[in-house]
Amino acid sequence: MNLNDIKKVACVGVGTIGASWATLYLWKGFNVAVQDVNVEALESARRLISSNFKFLEEKGLLSSESRKKAEGNATYTVNLKEALTGAQFIQESAFESYEVKQNIVREMDEYAPEAIYATSTSGLLVSEIQKMSKYPGRCITAHPFNPPHLLPLVELVKGKETSEETVLLCYDFYKSINKEPIIINKEIPGHVASRIQMALWRECADLVMNGVCSVKDVDAACCYGPGLRWALMGPHLVWDLSNPKGIAATIEHIGPQMNVWLPDMANWEKLPDGVGELMAEGLKEETAGTTPGELKAWRDDKLVEILKQVGKL
Ligand SMILES: NC(=O)c1ccc[n+]([C@@H]2O[C@H](COP(=O)([O-])OP(=O)(O)OC[C@H]3O[C@@H](n4cnc5c(N)ncnc54)[C@H](O)[C@@H]3O)[C@@H](O)[C@H]2O)c1
Repeated sequence: MNLNDIKKVACVGVGTIGASWATLYLWKGFNVAVQDVNVEALESARRLISSNFKFLEEKGLLSSESRKKAEGNATYTVNLKEALTGAQFIQESAFESYEVKQNIVREMDEYAPEAIYATSTSGLLVSEIQKMSKYPGRCITAHPFNPPHLLPLVELVKGKETSEETVLLCYDFYKSINKEPIIINKEIPGHVASRIQMALWRECADLVMNGVCSVKDVDAACCYGPGLRWALMGPHLVWDLSNPKGIAATIEHIGPQMNVWLPDMANWEKLPDGVGELMAEGLKEETAGTTPGELKAWRDDKLVEILKQVGKL
């Protein structure tokens, strides 16, 4: 299959992530089968997709005419066969369960034997899912960051039997819709970005628990310092620019300090009891006088501006 052959995308399972993927594919001009086993979930996806489009139109990211056309390219169904038939690309975002996902690839063998199967799974191994398919080479993990219609990252994880052709096609496909795919060569728990997020959070929470600073201040340390640069370049490129001789010189320069900090940093292997409640208590200071709705609206508003600046919208 070639990139240009992809005309119809089936979004299978349209809760939080699937509805957002469906918004993206409709926005990018595909015919999209929006499918869920649950009628209420399907109706809720319809509302979510409509409110996502309202937001995109309000932000000037598409005209009302294009919105109407895009939304008109969706078909809603609870019938998997109907959704899969004629689709070249399946973005599966059903429940996080091997049984559920393995059943979907079995059905795909029958109704869409040539289509790509891309699972959004955050934690399952595509190797285990593809075992149930007669065509395992076309199965891959394509893990987004929420919400996928806005955030560009897509982690492509190869299973044991994923073909190189599938990896390359998916890479080109996501690039063609202005996403930023990365290729993960080995299946590991949590893929890559969630592990990075977790490593940072472990240190942040540990600093709070040790009384070094408040939740509000540790959040400020992330977003008003390194976070602003990280929206533009990753930690390696940042360090490469920190020394005229590049990253190796930066690491050599700060190496003696790093060797003092590292043994003092958080290394917990399981969550400390009560850590969630403790962070929630600390967060009250940061959120005082606002509502979650106001904070989300502010975040999405600014996110759109940043994405525009980095050419991702
Ligand atoms: N929530 C996140 O932040 C996030 C981020 C990245 C990836 N993911 C992954 O995306 C997938 C979906 O997560 P979510 O948070 O959207 O879950 P969700 O519970 O909001 O949605 C799952 C949907 O799948 C439907 N479903 C269940 N079985 C089905 C089947 N056999 N066929 C079709 N639909 C079926 C459910 O009715 C539900 O609407 C998971 O694999 C998850 O790991 C989630």
